[in-house]
Amino acid sequence: MKKACVIGGNGYLALAIIKQLLEKGYHVNATVRNPDDSAKVAYLKKIGEIGTLKLFPADMTVEGSFDDAVIGCDYVFQVAAPTNLMSEDPENDLIKPAIQGTLNILRSCLKAKTVKRVVHTSSACTVSVNQQKGTGYVLDEEAWSDIDYMLKEKPPTWGYIVAKTLAEKEAFKFAKENKIDLISINPTFIIGTPLNGEVPPPINLALCFFSGDKMWMDILKMTQMISGSVSAAHLEDTARAHIFLAENDKASGRYICNAVNTSAPELASFLNKQYPQYKVFNDVVDLPGPAKLSLSSEKLIQAGFEFKYKSLEEIIDSIFEYGKSKGFLSKRTPPTTLENDKCKSLLSN
Ligand SMILES: NC(=O)c1ccc[n+]([C@@H]2O[C@H](COP(=O)([O-])OP(=O)(O)OC[C@H]3O[C@@H](n4cnc5c(N)ncnc54)[C@H](OP(=O)(O)O)[C@@H]3O)[C@@H](O)[C@H]2O)c1
Repeated sequence: MKKACVIGGNGYLALAIIKQLLEKGYHVNATVRNPDDSAKVAYLKKIGEIGTLKLFPADMTVEGSFDDAVIGCDYVFQVAAPTNLMSEDPENDLIKPAIQGTLNILRSCLKAKTVKRVVHTSSACTVSVNQQKGTGYVLDEEAWSDIDYMLKEKPPTWGYIVAKTLAEKEAFKFAKENKIDLISINPTFIIGTPLNGEVPPPINLALCFFSGDKMWMDILKMTQMISGSVSAAHLEDTARAHIFLAENDKASGRYICNAVNTSAPELASFLNKQYPQYKVFNDVVDLPGPAKLSLSSEKLIQAGFEFKYKSLEEIIDSIFEYGKSKGFLSKRTPPTTLENDKCKSLLSN
């Protein structure tokens, strides 16, 4: 029986990974900061009914905190990360804990002596943020985001991008020095029905043209301007790719996990065409032009991974009912009789 540890077990992505691991018959150790916080662990406990799941208290900022959780495990999925994009103190809230936490976890893996591979969840934002002008770029795992540019210009969410980039680089450095088999996965926006109660940021972004929420529209637009595209993969596929890469002996290095490359205006026009009966608020913000770049998952596909959700249509369709249940969608109001009459008279003139 294989045993895996998932770090940050109550998160949006981690819950999906844990569910799939349990369905595959793995014994799972999941770490959470506080197992006594019933609101945070309720969904984890529910998923735990599928198989054998044990919870461990552990915090990335505490040295040695993960020792007990990783002992005896074949694979460790390092999914946790501070994700407060709007932090006013990125150095202390994001960058330091991300790097220290990643190294703490790797030191625990080293001590355990049973861990065959560590899968480090990074982000596509460690690949795509650069100052290149123009459009049409295709980026793969060779590309790294430009840290000097981010530290100098401090574009919105720079702290998160720097934290993810430095944590991934430090993870590879530590792994090389200590002969740990580590691979990183770089997901784009992860979109799927969450297994816990909260609406995660990527769903707010994917459905913002339906909800009309100007703040999320501005964030989507800003994401495209900073990262160069609006790219996404499904939650189920992203979770499955983590397990695929853990189990694939030949896997090494970084893997971009991305199914769809698009842009904010393309998303708005797709929703308008695809769901004509629902209101799409795409006239509230000035949308940027086409995406500057696309992110290639060719390395993951060449390794034998197949995305189940391959198109924007499949991804958005999969969260449509969820979006409805959360009140994101409102029916387009049919024209009133008066408006119809006005149109008819205009047309006849
Ligand atoms: N969602 C996306 O679209 C996306 C895209 C690319 C990459 N990623 C990456 O995927 C991973 C999971 O993201 P997510 O969307 O699932 O985020 P999430 O739901 O916010 O989960 C983050 C997890 O990290 C834990 N965490 C934060 N600080 C911690 C600390 N000091 N010690 C221990 N645990 C800590 C959180 O625990 P608490 O609940 O206790 O705070 C939570 O379990 C992250 O590494 C993220 O950077 C996400």
